[in-house]
Amino acid sequence: MEAMTFILFGATGDLAKRKIYPALYNLYMDGKLPSAFTVIGLGRREFPDSVYQGQVEQSLRQFSRRPVAEEGAAPLGDFLSSFRYHPLNVNHAEDYGKLLELVRSREQALGGPGNRMFYLSVAPDFFGVIAQQIQESGLGTTSGWKRLIIEKPFGHDLASARLLNEHLSHSFEEEEIFRIDHYLGKTMVQNLETLVMANPVIQAVWNKEYISNVQITASETVGVEERAGYYDQAGAIRDMFQNHLLQVLMMTAMRRPERITARHIREEKRKIIESLRPIAPAEVAATVVRGQYEAGVLNGKEVVGYKQEPGIGPDSRNDTFVAARVSIDHPDWQGVPFYLRTGKRMAEKSTRIVVEFRNPTFDLYASRGEKTASNLLVIEINPNEKVSFVLNAKDPRNEGRLETVDMSFATEQKELPEAYERLIYDALLGDATFFAHWNEVELAWEWVQPVLEAFEGGMLPLHPYAAGSNGPQAADNLLQENGHSWWLDP
Ligand code: BG6
Repeated sequence: MEAMTFILFGATGDLAKRKIYPALYNLYMDGKLPSAFTVIGLGRREFPDSVYQGQVEQSLRQFSRRPVAEEGAAPLGDFLSSFRYHPLNVNHAEDYGKLLELVRSREQALGGPGNRMFYLSVAPDFFGVIAQQIQESGLGTTSGWKRLIIEKPFGHDLASARLLNEHLSHSFEEEEIFRIDHYLGKTMVQNLETLVMANPVIQAVWNKEYISNVQITASETVGVEERAGYYDQAGAIRDMFQNHLLQVLMMTAMRRPERITARHIREEKRKIIESLRPIAPAEVAATVVRGQYEAGVLNGKEVVGYKQEPGIGPDSRNDTFVAARVSIDHPDWQGVPFYLRTGKRMAEKSTRIVVEFRNPTFDLYASRGEKTASNLLVIEINPNEKVSFVLNAKDPRNEGRLETVDMSFATEQKELPEAYERLIYDALLGDATFFAHWNEVELAWEWVQPVLEAFEGGMLPLHPYAAGSNGPQAADNLLQENGHSWWLDP
C-alpha cells in the first residue's frame, strides 16, 4: 500500500481513544497499514507531539484487543513515532493553512503520491465547515487519493441530513465519502451476505414462500450513560433504529446481487430500502411502539429510571425503546413482516436476527399429540457471534418424542479484528461495500420521518417499561396481532 496521511479531527475524543487508535495499532501489527504513514491528530488545545504520543499509548494499553508491547519496545515505539499533533480551531482558515504545510512536509518525507484520509471524529455540526475548509485550504487537492470517513449521527431528520450531505458534496465526491455504521463492520453482519448468497440451500428458501417473519433485535443492558445531552435529543429511533437496525434489515432482506462488489451490493440494498412500505403519521401508532425505561432490577442490581438519570429532566418524553413492524413491498417479501426492536436497560445485551420459517408440518404428528416447531435460523451478532439452525428431531431419551435441536457454528471472538479495524482497513483500500451510501441514508430517513413527526406531534403513546425487562407489552402485541411472538432465547 502506498504512503498515506491519516488526518484525524477530534484526536482527544472518546471515540479516538476507545476505537480509532486501537484499530490503527492492530492494523499496524497485522501489517495492514501502509509501510509509510503519518497520523496527524487535531484538537483545540496545544501540546507537543510527545504528549500526544503518550495519550495514544495510554489508549492502546486500555483498549487494544491485542496486548501492547513493553514501553519503548520496537513495534510500539515505531508505531507511535508516526503520530503528530496539530492544534486546530475548525473555524480558523489559517489553522488549515498550517496543517497543509505539515501534511506536505510529511508527504515529502515519506514519498508517495499524497494519499489523504480525513477522519471526522467530531460532532456533525462541524462536518460542513471542516469539509469546506479542507476544500478552500488546498488540503483537498492532491495528486493521490483523498477520502473522508464520518460517523453517525448523520443528520437529525430528513431535512438536516440532506443539508449535511449537500455541504459535504461540495468538497467530496460520493465515492470519496465513507460513512461508518459500525454494525456493518460486525463479523456476523458481514457474514450474512455469504451465508445467504453463497449457500444455494439457504438462497432457495430466502423468500416469502418459506419465511414467516423476521425479527431483528438490538437490546442493551446499559442505560443512557454519560451521554444525556446527545441521547435525550436523539432517542432510540435516531440512535439505533434509523441507522443500525435499518442497515441490518437491508443486509438481511437484500436479494442476490449479480456479483459481489460494493456497487452491486449497494444496488440490492437500495432496492430493499426503497421498497419499505411508507407509513403515514396517522398510521404510525398501529405499527410502531415507543417506550421509556423506569426503575427496575438488572442483573440483581437496582437501577434508576430514565428520568432520574443524570442530565435527564423529569419531563423527558424521549424514547429509549422502539419496536416496529415493517413491510417490504418487494415481490419476494410480500406479506412477510419484519419486526425490529431496540432498547436500553433491557434484560440482556443481545443483537440478533431470528428468521422464522413457515411451518406446514405443524400437525403432522397430531396423532401422537405432538406439534412440530417452526424452523429458525438464528444469527447472533453480539455478544456471541453464532449462527444456529433450529430443527425438529426425535429425542431418543424420551421415547422418540419431538425435540428441537440446533446445528450451529460460532466464531472465536478473541482473535478477530474489531468492526473499526475492518472498516478503517476497507476505507484505506477504497472498498465501500460495508459503508452506508447516501441513497441508503436518505431513504432510511424518508421512512423514519413520518415516525418522528408522529412522535413529536404526540400521536404515539410513550410506554413505560421496567429496567431489566424485555420492553413494553405493546411491543409483544405488535407481533401477536399477526400470530407471532418474539423469540427470546430460541
Ligand atoms: C451506538 C449507539 O451507535 O451503538 C449507542 O450510539 C449504542 O447508544 C451502541 O450503545 C451499541 O453498539 P454495540 O456494538 O454495543 O451493539
